[in-house]
Amino acid sequence: MTWTEKYRPKKFEDIKGQDLAVDKIKSFAKYFGTGKKALILHGPPGTGKTTLAFVIAHETNSEIFELNASDIRNKIKLHDVLRPVMEQQSLSKKGKIILVDEVDGISGYYDKGGVQELVRLIELTSYPVIITANDVWHKKLSPLRKKSELVQLKEVSYNIIKDVMINILRKEGQFIDQSTLTRVAIKAKGDIRAAVNDLQTLSQMGEPSLAVLEERDKETDIFNALRIIFKGKPTNETLKVFDSVKMSIDEILLWMEENIPAEYQGEELARAYDLLSKADVFKGRIYKQQYWRFLVYENIFLSYGISSAKKTPKTGFTSYKKPTRILKIWLNNQRTAKKKSISQKYAKYVHVGTKRAMHDFPIIKQIINSNLSIQKELKLTDEEIEYVRN
Ligand SMILES: Nc1ncnc2c1ncn2[C@@H]1O[C@H](COP(=O)(O)OP(=O)(O)OP(=O)(O)O)[C@@H](O)[C@H]1O
Ligand SMILES: [Mg+2]
Repeated sequence: MTWTEKYRPKKFEDIKGQDLAVDKIKSFAKYFGTGKKALILHGPPGTGKTTLAFVIAHETNSEIFELNASDIRNKIKLHDVLRPVMEQQSLSKKGKIILVDEVDGISGYYDKGGVQELVRLIELTSYPVIITANDVWHKKLSPLRKKSELVQLKEVSYNIIKDVMINILRKEGQFIDQSTLTRVAIKAKGDIRAAVNDLQTLSQMGEPSLAVLEERDKETDIFNALRIIFKGKPTNETLKVFDSVKMSIDEILLWMEENIPAEYQGEELARAYDLLSKADVFKGRIYKQQYWRFLVYENIFLSYGISSAKKTPKTGFTSYKKPTRILKIWLNNQRTAKKKSISQKYAKYVHVGTKRAMHDFPIIKQIINSNLSIQKELKLTDEEIEYVRN
């Protein structure tokens, strides 16, 4: 069981760092029926939105009836959705709360009047409706905002996150040093889920290493980017998806290449590969002519371009793959490239041919390694120095 599930708060008092929101929610629950019928919990990921919806149900002795995007979009006759709720009521004495989780998460709510349907649901039902959203200020959600009480959840401060982590460690009977905990708490940037997940990973390592976590984050970021590109409609946001991915554009291109066939078929596939090849053309020009400006175009083709290869947004889960084979070849080429550039510098310096230097590389490596002044003399870059060290 993941620690985020195991330690998911059950009561209001277990919710940390959201006092203002919790007060507002309590009063919504207390006076329900006199004010607005819906409550929107909004804020950044991992701050307790979904958890709070279940806490409210628990504290008011209610059952959660969860509706997802397609329930609302497809069942145009709301009665189909509402009838089972009404019928169930006679079976138990518990109250009901309708939960619409992550209203802005999946593309689809925004289309085809999904928001309108949700507004109708709020008007018709006699049950409280709880909605969660990351970005409640999207203009398409405006009719929904008018019908609802808005409660904002905040990024949780790192010292509170640290307390939550220490609490969990105590219950698990485990120990991790303070400075590592502080760094994990800061790295989480207000997201308790991220911190608790990191904590669990660290606790399973013999020697807690943040480097491993960072490598994993890099992969999470690229997986998210792939999902946004392949599943969603191309928008201005799509252009920016790689901004938060800490990988070189070359490496990103390999991930795209590897995963296009996982998502696209037929005509879409052909279009996507065509766009990928255009990105590759720009990549070539960047390298050959040092036209760094072209990076912009390479990025556009890879993100917006490939996203627009499909006709309609996609749903469902796709498991994307790490481009291991191609990545190995690429990394190897990168390595050879470094070996070559170092050899060139050395060859020029001692007046031998580059080929000769490449051949003698193991010895040259030792010489360079043993003497810092030679590294300076040859004007090696940081990456080249790192390469010689390993
Ligand atoms: N305020 C909090 N206090 C204590 N634990 C929390 C809090 N917020 C989140 N957590 C922990 O993080 C996990 C995830 O929280 P939750 O699912 O409520 O996040 P969320 O706000 O719904 O995020 P998302 O926007 O990604 O859906 C919880 O199971 C819990 O372990
Ligand atoms: Mg959630």
